[in-house]
Amino acid sequence: MVLAACSGTKKNSPVIGAGKTVDPYHYSSTKAVTYSKAAVASAHPLASQVGVAIMQKGGNAFDAMIATQLALAVVYPGAGNIGGGGFLMARQTNGHLIALDYREMAPGKASRDMYLDKNGNPVSGLSESGHLSAGVPGTVAGLFATLSYAKLSFKELIQPAINLAEFGFVITAHEASGLNNARAAFIQYSANPGAFVKNAPWKAGDTLIQPDLAATLKRIRDNGAKGFYEGQTATMIVQEMQYGKGMISYDDLRNYKAIERPPVEFSYRGYNVISFPPPSSGGLLLAQMLKIIEKFPVTNYGFQTPRSVQLMVEAERRAYADRAQHMGDPDFWKVPQQTLLSEAYLAERMKDYDSAKASSSSNIQAGQIHESPQTTHISIVDEAGNMVAVTTTLNDSYGSKTVVGGAGFILNDEMDDFSIKPGVPNMYGAVGGEANAIAAGKRMLSSMTPTLVIKDNKPFMVVGTPGGTTIPTSVFQSIVNVIDFNMNAADAVNKPKFHHQWLPDNVMVENNFAAATKTALEKMGYTIVPIGGIGRTELIKILPDGSRETAADSRGDDSVAGY
Ligand code: GLY
Repeated sequence: MVLAACSGTKKNSPVIGAGKTVDPYHYSSTKAVTYSKAAVASAHPLASQVGVAIMQKGGNAFDAMIATQLALAVVYPGAGNIGGGGFLMARQTNGHLIALDYREMAPGKASRDMYLDKNGNPVSGLSESGHLSAGVPGTVAGLFATLSYAKLSFKELIQPAINLAEFGFVITAHEASGLNNARAAFIQYSANPGAFVKNAPWKAGDTLIQPDLAATLKRIRDNGAKGFYEGQTATMIVQEMQYGKGMISYDDLRNYKAIERPPVEFSYRGYNVISFPPPSSGGLLLAQMLKIIEKFPVTNYGFQTPRSVQLMVEAERRAYADRAQHMGDPDFWKVPQQTLLSEAYLAERMKDYDSAKASSSSNIQAGQIHESPQTTHISIVDEAGNMVAVTTTLNDSYGSKTVVGGAGFILNDEMDDFSIKPGVPNMYGAVGGEANAIAAGKRMLSSMTPTLVIKDNKPFMVVGTPGGTTIPTSVFQSIVNVIDFNMNAADAVNKPKFHHQWLPDNVMVENNFAAATKTALEKMGYTIVPIGGIGRTELIKILPDGSRETAADSRGDDSVAGY
């Protein structure tokens, strides 16, 4: 399926990567294709095409991930980034798993009560926008850590992004609307918002040229990670911090490291699921929810019937209660992972489950442990079978709305993913406590859930999505749609989603969610809250003949590419 094409005035026509198919002035979203060899699904057609061009040039899935993520940093400024962070979950053809944490980190001067006034009350918006909301960015460190698994040179991988920034690309209607909505905030929170702000409103087909960002990308090309964390780019970040009373220092930048973590691995109905561990809550929540429902004949209950949705909501409620209390950066907080995933513990959590009525979140607290939270996702499978799932984030759309003056990129507002005060909800309505309190050098709890599924020791699925706290429930439901309801990739991604996160105690449902199920749930005592859209999932399913059934979410500009 090909959606309406996006085209504009051709300013220049540099070759992007090796692919003759990458034309930044004429492109369209392709939503679902089965490719025979290799595939990329990402939030933007140009980024997916760049990833594929890199693989056609001899790169593997890791090369494609680096080039796609860098391209997203240019063509999708609302969430693609070099000023944010992310997680990579990958499996090489020999079965080796890689969980790479390049999550943002609290600056060295950060402290537990930094967003509270003298009376101990949160200062509205301080953790959500502007300089003080930014954590130390991890993306560039993550890209260089990924390079050790890649085949091509970094110079080759970054050049398409440089060309897109330097010569421009035409923007979609979504992007034009996003930039227009963020205009006032860019001006309020930046010394120099650069290319993102112009006098007339943006419209679909305008060309966005980002010379400052192109120069930053060239410094990274020429100096490696030091081109970001040291030298001129670091000076620009620190000067921007001084302009807006932010906290990120030269030391914070120089000392930032990406970390490899042991992945969360578990079985679900004969499939092996591999997902991201803390400081993401995503892998643990996914494991808890799937293991809870594995005990029930969900296929027999039927897709989005009151019975299956009610069960899944109650699994979501209990898992998110645990998130609020027990999950945080494992380098600062002992996350009781083994217990949280044990059969006995999960059975105990469902002891009070009643299939005829809603539980109440005021009666369900986190379990007792007796053992010493705008984002974007890329799914890639290459010709050899390397699988890469990467979720990366600025947090809110356009992050902190602080553009680093002269450097042309937007900083994250990831500090809001910490619990700024126990029990006070963040922008996603999620609450937390001590486990996710702010501390210098600590990584804030995430919900990002880049996930791989293996069947009989062979690649079966690569999946992930943006969406804040709705990420784990969207990945959960996409997997259930494929495994329990035998859906193809496009249906698994695009069928309506629902979400419960313990607090607030309601079930969010997409507008096209089945009316009869909604009514039945309300009769059982659930409060239903309609919501415009949940997630933008990118899913690749590997079919028995080895072909790659690839779907990009219809909720945005997302697009697949492959060969
Ligand atoms: N900023 C969204 C997340 O990391 O969960």
